[in-house]
Amino acid sequence: MAIPVIDFSKLSGDERSKTLAQIAICCEEWGFFQLINHGISEDLLERVKKVASECYKFERQPGFENSKPVNLLKELVEKKSEESLVESIDWEDVFLLTEENHDEWPSKTPGFKETMREYRAELKKLAIKVMEVMDENLGLPKGYINKAFSGGGEKEEEDSAFFGTKVSHYPPCPRPDKVNGLRAHTDAGGVILLFQDDEVSGLQILKDGVWIDVQPIKNAIVINTGDQIEVLSNGKYKSVWHRVLALPEGNRRSIASFYNPSFKAIIEPAKELVPEEKKIQVENLVKYPKFVFGDYMSVYAEQKFLPKEPRFQAVKAV
Ligand code: OGA
Ligand code: NI
Repeated sequence: MAIPVIDFSKLSGDERSKTLAQIAICCEEWGFFQLINHGISEDLLERVKKVASECYKFERQPGFENSKPVNLLKELVEKKSEESLVESIDWEDVFLLTEENHDEWPSKTPGFKETMREYRAELKKLAIKVMEVMDENLGLPKGYINKAFSGGGEKEEEDSAFFGTKVSHYPPCPRPDKVNGLRAHTDAGGVILLFQDDEVSGLQILKDGVWIDVQPIKNAIVINTGDQIEVLSNGKYKSVWHRVLALPEGNRRSIASFYNPSFKAIIEPAKELVPEEKKIQVENLVKYPKFVFGDYMSVYAEQKFLPKEPRFQAVKAV
């Protein structure tokens, strides 16, 4: 079984309604799909791969070799530890790029900052297009999701949706039976756009109780929906469990961009998706509380790798 692949360019043209319907199925039944012909230029994607690999090699690898996962695994294998698995940590090198932390972006790799700035601007536009497709498929006004993700702040900078880019590498692992690349979880936020390695696999999603690979496709962008889209859609678009395996060969690159609500944004199921009569008859058909996204993130920070549903109960309702 493979993750569905959507030709995004077909959204303009004769096959628009067919493509919209395909994307609706992806969102309702898969929670994960891959976009090809998404409009991000091959040239830019090639440059992103180059600077990400160079950055890993020159600025990150020396640190990874002496990192916590490496040392914990070594201890475990040398039997200095009682545990049979390294369970508290992932076999991953990762750093985050945001609008606010430009000063901390890697600065020693020529072209890294410029290229990633350009990439993020393009990906942000793509995220907005993808959300507009979801608006349309859900029968919501155009821009609904993006609007729901902003607001709540007192100052302008607190008002806008959050857009972060996580640059990860999953280096080859000597004992992949003893540690995860990234433990299974659903994503907390909105829409996630992943530019994964062309060759090295490892990302899997849980579909009908079975783990299946997100097959690498050169220069495709993998889309998945997080917990906040599940809430806004009142459960129609469920966030899906996924994980990354540690593998003995290959250094997997993966660049995940998260389009999330602002921390102050108030999230609740869209009124349009909660039928009036049901709201009156059966109170609990509104499946999710109304909450502040920042409060959800506090719960998520503690419970990321645990079952999802209790998070919606634990978050403070407003
Ligand atoms: C994540 C994630 C997958 C990957 O960062 O939440 O699921 O391939 N990443 O890195
Ligand atoms: Ni994830």
